[in-house]
Amino acid sequence: MNLTDVSADLANVLYTQEQIDARIAEMAAQIDQDYADKNLLMVGILNGAVMTMADLSRSLTIHCEMDWMAISSYGSGVSSSGVVRILKDMNTSIVGRDVLIVEDIVDTGLTLSYLVENLRSRNPASIEIAAAFRKPEALKKQVDVKYVGFDIPNEFVVGFGLDYAGKYRNLRGLGVLSPKVYA
Ligand code: IMP
Repeated sequence: MNLTDVSADLANVLYTQEQIDARIAEMAAQIDQDYADKNLLMVGILNGAVMTMADLSRSLTIHCEMDWMAISSYGSGVSSSGVVRILKDMNTSIVGRDVLIVEDIVDTGLTLSYLVENLRSRNPASIEIAAAFRKPEALKKQVDVKYVGFDIPNEFVVGFGLDYAGKYRNLRGLGVLSPKVYA
């Protein structure tokens, strides 16, 4: 699905797929360097990180392993509470591994800060975060995101894995969802 296919649903376009591709390639080049002599394990957070994981991992020139977690925030409403329930854990032990958490977006940071704490207790050699997008103005909990694609305004966005009510994940590019869609 392209941005033009859903232009009526978008308040504005933030990034085209081409712009995202170019930035993902830059992030991958940095990860290539940083993990050249390591044994990289990328852990994607379902469902949003599927596109980021697929594009970032395929842009690497080094080997990596991939695993997945599915998590959900406790609490009601649209904002995350920071208390996280693990719906699906990894299949891999991370003891002594160099773990790179792959996320779609860092919003409040509450989910990631819980997750990092949880994974750190499993004794990995190192743990870092890569996220395609980050909303600096929404941050409630300091999380150190080593690899960030784009800092974006504090608005509800869809595309590149990010959904509204389960839709738009397959949208190429990133746009701000028009409020009339959820009004
Ligand atoms: P956090 O704990 O507030 O950082 O929540 C992060 C999660 O909320 C992300 O992994 C997304 O799944 C979801 N999320 C945050 N902002 C957006 C958005 O603008 N569009 C769609 N999903 C979002």
